[in-house]
Amino acid sequence: MALVKIREILDGNCNDKSVSVRGWVYRKREGKELIFLVIRDSTGVIQCTVKKASEAAWAEAQKLTIESSLVLDGLVKPDKRAPGGFEIAAEAVSIIGLADVFPIAKDKSEEFIRDMRHLWLRSRKMNLVMKVRGNVMEYTREYFKKQGYTEVSPPMFISAAVEGGSTLFGLKYFDQDLYLTQSSQLYLEILIYSLEQVFCIAPSFRAEKSRTIRHLTEYWHIEGEWPFATMDDLMKFEEGLMEHVCKRVAENCQKEFAELGADINKLAAVKAPFPRITYAEAIDRLKVKNPALNWGDDLGYEDEKVLAEDFGKPFFVYDYPTAIKAFYCKTYSDRPEVALSVDMMVPRIGEISTGGQREEDKEMLIKRMQAQGLKPEDYEWYLDLRRYGTVPHVGFGMGLERLLTWMLDLENIMDAIPFPRTTRRFYP
Ligand code: 4AD
Ligand code: MG
Repeated sequence: MALVKIREILDGNCNDKSVSVRGWVYRKREGKELIFLVIRDSTGVIQCTVKKASEAAWAEAQKLTIESSLVLDGLVKPDKRAPGGFEIAAEAVSIIGLADVFPIAKDKSEEFIRDMRHLWLRSRKMNLVMKVRGNVMEYTREYFKKQGYTEVSPPMFISAAVEGGSTLFGLKYFDQDLYLTQSSQLYLEILIYSLEQVFCIAPSFRAEKSRTIRHLTEYWHIEGEWPFATMDDLMKFEEGLMEHVCKRVAENCQKEFAELGADINKLAAVKAPFPRITYAEAIDRLKVKNPALNWGDDLGYEDEKVLAEDFGKPFFVYDYPTAIKAFYCKTYSDRPEVALSVDMMVPRIGEISTGGQREEDKEMLIKRMQAQGLKPEDYEWYLDLRRYGTVPHVGFGMGLERLLTWMLDLENIMDAIPFPRTTRRFYP
């Protein structure tokens, strides 16, 4: 008997064949003469029927509990009534691991389900989200590599802040005080002097107290950095990346989107060039609804959502006030109050990436550090990059989970990552 994946059956490749499937009991309904089982494996779910007349199979099926693991043999038949359109008429059932009463049932609260994450990851929803996530990572790499970028591996233990002290996680490293990295940017900047075009997909950590649908304390960060480039090159690269990833997902994740009930058409519609507006224009637009907003204010989540509603698709906001940007941002020589910084935004989520041109002049950089109360001596190695063959360079960071939350129309960013970390959540 051929061992098959459930997907092969659902694709119509096993009609009238005797097959063997291996998986877990997803649903069970017991009648007088017939037991309905829905079996799941990594690839999908299939309805199976066990007749009382097949005595040995019936006896096994009666014992089965939700999430028990098993091997089931039977004949595949197309059946319009069955979810997915196919059914297996079971001939033999063999239990591998009989499950205790499964704690997750329909009436459980979201909180409870999050505490049971280790079991909830078996759900169809999480199975599908994780598959799309894996593909998005693959297509991201694909794009960077096609453009000649080298994937690198930066450290997570670091000795000085990247994105400001308020979201920095400190930790004891033997008898030293260290931090968890907020971004790999500064390390990518080191590596461009060797490899030029580099990228990484790595965790970043933020001691982020805000509980929104777009904040985690640990997230995966897609970051790129490269020399001899301008703001225009940067925006072109970022929109190219988005277009590529959206196109590949639209081509290859149709089944996942359909089952999740997510709108895949918006991905196929993502085409470069993206609209670009300056921060000053953004303020003008927002002032109509929120007169209290002024040039110099940081855009909050609510502001970004309002802006994004107008566009209904990804777009850029650039030229932010220097005062609300990190120390490494380059500023205009004739307008030091404006930084060469750009955010990509999408509907419902707002910001999904920040990037910009980096200050390549040592003296300017030291001034910017001092203005932000940072000690240049904590950044000696970073300053060395400006001492030894400095070059103009750009880079950006995009939050993988924010990207997925937008793509998959997820209600909360916590569902975009298998093991979400928030202020209150670190189990399992
Ligand atoms: O805007 P951020 O803080 O920029 C940087 O870290 C730069 N150093 C990146 C670079 O230029 N290499 O973070 C970049 C992106 C945000 O746009 C957002 O998508 C994501 O990281 N992000 C978060 N995602 C989930 N939870 C959080 N708490 C996040 N904080 C930032
Ligand atoms: Mg940002």
